[in-house]
Amino acid sequence: MTTIPVIDGREIPHEVRLQEILSKLAELAPGASLVLIAPHDPNKLLRKLLIDLPGRLNWGPVEKGPDVWRWQFTGRDAEAARTVSDYLGWDHRRLEELMAAGMAAASAGDWQSASELFAEHRTGLTHHADIEDALLFPAYDGATGNMPNGPTQLMVEEHRGVRNGLADVAAAVKACNMDELTDAHLRLSDLLAEHHAQEEEILFPTMDETIPPEQLSQLIEKLLVA
Ligand SMILES: [Fe+2]
Ligand SMILES: [Fe+2]
Repeated sequence: MTTIPVIDGREIPHEVRLQEILSKLAELAPGASLVLIAPHDPNKLLRKLLIDLPGRLNWGPVEKGPDVWRWQFTGRDAEAARTVSDYLGWDHRRLEELMAAGMAAASAGDWQSASELFAEHRTGLTHHADIEDALLFPAYDGATGNMPNGPTQLMVEEHRGVRNGLADVAAAVKACNMDELTDAHLRLSDLLAEHHAQEEEILFPTMDETIPPEQLSQLIEKLLVA
């Protein structure tokens, strides 16, 4: 895995911090990434980015406090339509890469790096499942007519399995137990492969086709600053 460049907001003088961060983010080419370290929740910055750099970035957390907040930003083509498939599909790939990097570090016996990477993966994936539960699935139900026992209920149940799987992986990493980690990783990857396929092949395209474009970009903005 290529190392993502880091910008540490804590090291930039306060008077120029916001401007410097904004210009670094504005320079990100489509597909290029940057991790921002902040001494507080960057929510205000994220809201500003929606206005100052509309459609230019995807982002998601790798650490959410209590002392340090770290967010990954990836450049995107501002002309490309904002869709659920585009944003959450990007986040699925980001999280898969983090999990693969964690597994590679553990296989190489580097438990310190494995522990950091799996912690980032757990933070990112928990955040991802939380925003789907709280914002995305209600929007899907609203757009498709609230079926009782519909597909989103199954997705919410699978998220419980995902959270348990993440806890199993974290326990195996904490114990530096490769056999346990291999089993926990396999169970979680199988669950995620099926879950992501359901979302990317059925749920997300249905939303992208059913919800009018204006409402769709408002929904994605809500997901981005949740
Ligand atoms: Fe999900
Ligand atoms: Fe998802």
